Amino acid sequence: MNKQISFKLNGRQVSASVSPGESLLDVLRNRFHLGGARETCALGLCGVCTVIVSGNPVSSCLYMAPAADGEEIVTIEGLETEDALHPVQEAFMEHTAFQCGYCTPGMILMAKKLLEENPDPSEDEIKEFMSGNICRCASYGQIIQAIQAASQMIQADRMEGAH
Ligand code: FES
Ligand code: FES
Repeated sequence: MNKQISFKLNGRQVSASVSPGESLLDVLRNRFHLGGARETCALGLCGVCTVIVSGNPVSSCLYMAPAADGEEIVTIEGLETEDALHPVQEAFMEHTAFQCGYCTPGMILMAKKLLEENPDPSEDEIKEFMSGNICRCASYGQIIQAIQAASQMIQADRMEGAH
């Protein structure tokens, strides 16, 4: 039987009628037409379907839609503000940290979470945290550089804000 759920999606209160076996990924893509999160493995192994649920990155291919009731969900489409990209988005663009771009939304959301938890991660810490996100184009070198650059940008913004 379908369940009516409501949740915050990229800052907007929304609702949907979902079936018990439906994934959050399918709801985001099919009902809300948000195509940034994609499906490849559907097994929680590749990270291309990553979205943030109430502050935590999840594999939305495995996250059942009924569990999203009352949660706050952020997808790649919700990251930029009216006048600026998120620093991680900017850094990915500057460092061309992608080739086909398929893995990029998940990578960016995961990197955002990393920098919230650890604003100045070492290269090993970046590799460890990002290890669940697979890039089939193997743009890992540029991805690491972009995350390091975003870390510097965020720290510089904080210093500026403190003055
Ligand atoms: S599609 Fe969800 S982890 Fe691979
Ligand atoms: S840029 Fe192609 S999969 Fe990562």
